Amino acid sequence: MQKAPITKYQPFKGPVLEDRQWPGKTIEASPIWCSVDLRDGNQALAIPMTIEEKLEMFQLLVSVGFKQIEVGFPSASDTEFNFLRRLIDENLIPQDVTVQVLVQAREHLIRRTFEAIKGAPKAIVHLYNSTNPLQRRVTFGLTKEAIKQIAVDGTRLVRELVPTVPDTHVEFQYSPESFSDTEMEYALEVCEAVFAAWNPAAGEKIILNLPATVELATPNVHADQIEWFCRNFSNREQIIVSLHTHNDRGTGVAATELGILAGADRVEGTLFGNGERTGNLDIVIVALNLYTQGIDPGLDFTDLSRIRSVYERCTRMDVHDRHPYSGDLVFTAFSGSHQDAIRKGMDQMDPDEGALWQVPYLMNDPKDIGRDYEAIIRINSQSGKGGVAFVLENEFGYQIPKAMGPELGKMVYDLADSLSRELTPREILDTFLSSYSDQTNPLNVSDFREVSRYAASREIELAADLTWKGESKTIQGRGNGPINAFCNALDTEKIKNFNLVSFSEHSIGTGSGTKAAAYVQIQRYGDGNFWGVGIDNDIELASLKALVSSINRSEAS
Ligand code: KIV
Ligand code: ZN
Repeated sequence: MQKAPITKYQPFKGPVLEDRQWPGKTIEASPIWCSVDLRDGNQALAIPMTIEEKLEMFQLLVSVGFKQIEVGFPSASDTEFNFLRRLIDENLIPQDVTVQVLVQAREHLIRRTFEAIKGAPKAIVHLYNSTNPLQRRVTFGLTKEAIKQIAVDGTRLVRELVPTVPDTHVEFQYSPESFSDTEMEYALEVCEAVFAAWNPAAGEKIILNLPATVELATPNVHADQIEWFCRNFSNREQIIVSLHTHNDRGTGVAATELGILAGADRVEGTLFGNGERTGNLDIVIVALNLYTQGIDPGLDFTDLSRIRSVYERCTRMDVHDRHPYSGDLVFTAFSGSHQDAIRKGMDQMDPDEGALWQVPYLMNDPKDIGRDYEAIIRINSQSGKGGVAFVLENEFGYQIPKAMGPELGKMVYDLADSLSRELTPREILDTFLSSYSDQTNPLNVSDFREVSRYAASREIELAADLTWKGESKTIQGRGNGPINAFCNALDTEKIKNFNLVSFSEHSIGTGSGTKAAAYVQIQRYGDGNFWGVGIDNDIELASLKALVSSINRSEAS
């Protein structure tokens, strides 16, 4: 890289717009969406989609709810041409969907495009030529006047050819390619000339698509350009102002959102932002950004995982783990404090479908886009106790007592730390069970049985066959429940050296497979609290097993 002073690059100069209005506005409605996956997205692929893949993608886009779909550049290749013909000839275009076709402002290409759209119910013919100074000079070596003439001639030819497709309702779209890098007055002049050449009937609108073909400036500059254009175009009510941002600086979404504030009516983009270089605008993000501001985007991403898998298969591209909304990790919290907050938020959420979403760290409900809560919390050495509890409850049904969380959490994180990796839910369960349940040394109880029941005092007499520090014996005790009776029996035998601090239990599962899980905490006389867990089909046995495990854990420490 060059060291200062940097002469290789210079600041981008946007239009002068001191009384800009867009910063004070908010987006209140969804724009018209147009998917360019099958054209801009496809042309950026190392291996372009086959006709079958394009077909699958087209059907996917229709199912998402796109009403305008740029299906290709039919004059550019046989595949592109044949794909559109297949859509038309096999009646695959729903009545409410308009197919859009891109064409350069060149006569033979425009004529071929009209052959391609013949018979489509509705088509947008999208004409473009480059208008920016760099392309005028370097690529075409043409004057401003000559470039404008190309646009005007192309527009006239499209107009002239409309009657050759009488069964097709044709709309017209023009893009001054690299609009954002074109002198604003000149871009306006070209667009005005195109508008005049098309000469729309009263009430008819044409689409003027204003591409940021290469993103060269901050999003506020893009917004200024769009507002400037909207304010200066002579027949604003007869044009649909369309955005087409690319993402070279990583701000395609921001530029589009500010462009909507600045007055744009329509947005072109692709699923997950596939497109030339760093991609086109990611329509999924902008649409879901609207949704999470309470605006219905009119596109349905309920099954975003399926949409993503069709996209990944057809394009051979991957969606990054941290891609907004669709990445694998975007509903995952590793950090302990985040996990705790998410868990509390989820627990406190009003279960009503339409209740206001209020969960810390999660700006939207994963379920809205087909994601599961189960995958939300994953455990590594930075995780918190809440995360472990969440996994045990959501994956396996164990509702561990709150007070047990810190100790168990530490065990799990120490393990993750020593392995230097994330733990699977199964490993977390194994750590939990192997640490707290089925501890049988030095106290091993082979049988418990109730020997008497005292109706008046509601007490029971319990007998237990056990081995204590290698010596076998049968002990007996009375109490208001099995745990109490067993504790008293241990006391009689001078084995008891603890107080019972807490006890809880719950069932796991339903029907004949239901099990009981019991949690006991004891305090060894003088020092230390110890937890034990018991799991059994029999609820009483589960609680006794939990107590025995806690005693053995205290003896082992
Ligand atoms: O990025 C661009 O300018 C384009 C045009 C052809 C609309 O894709
Ligand atoms: Zn583009």
